[in-house]
Amino acid sequence: MDGQGQGERIREFWDAYAQDYDSEPDHGLISGTMRRAWRELLSEALPPPPAELVEMGCGTGTITEILADLGHLVTASDLSPAMVRVAKAKTARFADRVTVRTGDASARAKPGPAVDAVVARHLVWTLPNPEKTLRRWVSMVRPGGRLVLIEGQWGSRAPQSYVGGPPLRWEGGIRAEVLAAALRPHVARIEVTDLDSVDLWGRTLSDQRYLLVAHVAS
Ligand SMILES: C[S@@+](CC[C@H](N)C(=O)[O-])C[C@H]1O[C@@H](n2cnc3c(N)ncnc32)[C@H](O)[C@@H]1O
Repeated sequence: MDGQGQGERIREFWDAYAQDYDSEPDHGLISGTMRRAWRELLSEALPPPPAELVEMGCGTGTITEILADLGHLVTASDLSPAMVRVAKAKTARFADRVTVRTGDASARAKPGPAVDAVVARHLVWTLPNPEKTLRRWVSMVRPGGRLVLIEGQWGSRAPQSYVGGPPLRWEGGIRAEVLAAALRPHVARIEVTDLDSVDLWGRTLSDQRYLLVAHVAS
């Protein structure tokens, strides 16, 4: 990760949060209504199963579990070993199609077969160099594949990062038009859908949340 000290503090922050993370309604998807809403959203955003997916910053594996349940083949990773432990336990029954491991989403993509889609929810705001990382994700996707990003802007840019030190580039979240502008030179087409349904978040929102699907040229 770029900026070694800050990367370490980011990992420590999420390690410390891992056990309690799912107590937030939209983290743990604590109701059947919420799980159905996320399942429907992801089903429509992704190619038909079984697709080869990489999920970045999987956290406790909440989205990973839905992707697997839809029938996809998922390689999920997270910077935080404590998050990875929770995600592994949550997805254990899908061991035939899910791999969860510790990894930095900013790291250079390892040479390997291209995947159908890269998926991430609520990750880009905490990356030190999000534009560079997005280009790497595009390079991992096969021609005609896509990035499926669930993001939002939930805070204003604070003078300090949430882990101390200077604020991250997209601290507090990122508006859809800024994320789209960063991706546009590298993809063929971008679709943005506002996500304001209470069924997704378990509460009425006062901030911007959205799904951005970036289609790579065929
Ligand atoms: C807000 S949580 C989102 C977790 C999950 N995607 C979800 O939607 O529930 C952000 C996650 O990103 C992870 N993370 C932060 N920086 C990362 C990086 N550079 N590479 C991989 N994961 C990272 C954190 O450990 C944390 O699990």
